[in-house]
Amino acid sequence: MTPEQIHACKTSWAKVEPIADSAATLFYNNLFTADPTLKPLFKGDMGEQGKKLMEMIGAAVRMLDRLDELVPVVEAMGKRHLAYGVEDAHYDTVGSALIETLQTGLGDSFTDDVKEAWIVAYGILASTMIAAAHKEVSA
Ligand code: HEM
Repeated sequence: MTPEQIHACKTSWAKVEPIADSAATLFYNNLFTADPTLKPLFKGDMGEQGKKLMEMIGAAVRMLDRLDELVPVVEAMGKRHLAYGVEDAHYDTVGSALIETLQTGLGDSFTDDVKEAWIVAYGILASTMIAAAHKEVSA
């Protein structure tokens, strides 16, 4: 990612944080509309799940310029997601639901450049999670 893209993710996420609860609700609405078969994978309280998701995205965005620290955290998350029944193809659906949510939440400030920055950032997270899910446990 370019420094400009990292900056774009950080400044746009700062605008989402005050509306994190409604953004999380909107995200799951978008996700389950796109693919209702994903609903049964989520066993816990969706309010709690939404909080965890928003916190994790926030943490990841803050660490985008420290990928060496971010990658192990995201790899561990990818392995846990395999155990939740998450499949590789689901990452595209989640990515689209996230972009759609940011578009709605940020309105005009979600410019093409900001959108591109989020697509790149999500792509890094998703590909790191998917790769870790398929990696053998190393000694
Ligand atoms: C960058 C992508 C993603 C991020 C940042 C993310 C974040 C999280 C976090 C923080 C949790 C809480 C538990 C944990 O840390 O292990 C979680 C759980 C979960 N995520 Fe994700 N996730 C992502 C992608 C996905 C995808 C693609 C799916 C597919 C539908 C998914 C489905 C789930 C499910 C089913 C749970 C467990 C819910 C439960 O406990 O009932 N996630 N996710």
